[in-house]
Amino acid sequence: MKIQFLDLSHQTREIQTQLLDELKTLINQNRFIGGAEVERFETSFAHFCGTETCVALNSGTDALRLGLLACGIKPEDEVITSPFTFIATAEAISQTGIPVFADVDLDTFNLSAESVQSRISDKTRAIVPVHIFGLPADMMAFGALAAEEGLALVEDACQAHGAAIGEKKVGSFGNAAAFSFYPSKNLGAFGDAGAATTSDGECASMIRLLRNHGQTGPYFHQREGFNSRMDTFQAAVLNLKLPLLERWNEERQRLAGIYRDELKSLNEVLFQKVTEGYSHVFHLVAALVEDRRDLRKFLSEHRVETNIVYPTPIHLLPAYRHLGHREGDFPNAEEVSRRVLCFPAYPGLGDDKVFEIATLIRRFYSRSRAE
Ligand SMILES: Cc1ncc(COP(=O)(O)O)c(C=O)c1O
Repeated sequence: MKIQFLDLSHQTREIQTQLLDELKTLINQNRFIGGAEVERFETSFAHFCGTETCVALNSGTDALRLGLLACGIKPEDEVITSPFTFIATAEAISQTGIPVFADVDLDTFNLSAESVQSRISDKTRAIVPVHIFGLPADMMAFGALAAEEGLALVEDACQAHGAAIGEKKVGSFGNAAAFSFYPSKNLGAFGDAGAATTSDGECASMIRLLRNHGQTGPYFHQREGFNSRMDTFQAAVLNLKLPLLERWNEERQRLAGIYRDELKSLNEVLFQKVTEGYSHVFHLVAALVEDRRDLRKFLSEHRVETNIVYPTPIHLLPAYRHLGHREGDFPNAEEVSRRVLCFPAYPGLGDDKVFEIATLIRRFYSRSRAE
């Protein structure tokens, strides 16, 4: 049987009956944007993250963009981030200020605090660490650096719902944080949705103002803003899924543990290193692998789907050619892009499938060593 890289149907089945009832009610009451469901989600997600506030939005991209604007980022301001992330991180920066990249750590694929320090200039105003694949970035180091240099700290937590350092959840470390509820995420809606979390009252008010065209009263607009509101339907989905998130994350952690245990003797497969006390929620189970193309082909021949996320680091994408980067500028990010491979790991996949995949991976390397 084919093993899909991602299959959301197990998660959907858990909420489907109740969701259909709730949707019927919403449709009958003509409630489609904002409202009580959205407010309920904001309260529970803020509680989940350990922040004062959550502002529900249309996407993780706008959560980053509005978070940066609320932190006062202006077109001439530099914002440092990772080149090994989804393009939305860089887009949100270039649509508010100027993106500046720093290299990642080869062990964790996360932004390196040392590299960030070397990229700080007198125009730097903020740092955006990305908790890549669900592994928290080194928030102690970034917190200290931001405080020392007087910079804002905006977390890209779009892949890391529920990840934590000790007891403290991601989304609660910076001045603001962005979450995506894109359907494939650990907490996924049935369409686009996102949220910003913050414990700074002014920041929260600004994000709220910006998400709805800067409106402070009926057709009275304090400033220009955006249409970044969350649909009621998406909030209804998220309200049903949020209570299941911890269990789903534990399932991802168990599956990731099987991969790690089964493959720990292979030097050809190096998983992200998880610092003691860090809780990785494995949005993706990713490793640096040898002979990536051939391993992928071998697994595909055995009906196992894998994925390469992200094959080109952002500084080398045509979209950012104008920044003038070339190969070699961020060698670790480039190496991760060259060698990374993601394996199936999601709620409902089943331990047996992961054992099967691990056996295939071991077989591939023992065969290629014998050749
Ligand atoms: C790291 C990262 N940042 C930002 C985003 C943007 O989120 P969205 O797709 O909800 O706009 C995503 C989601 O795909 C992401 O993975």
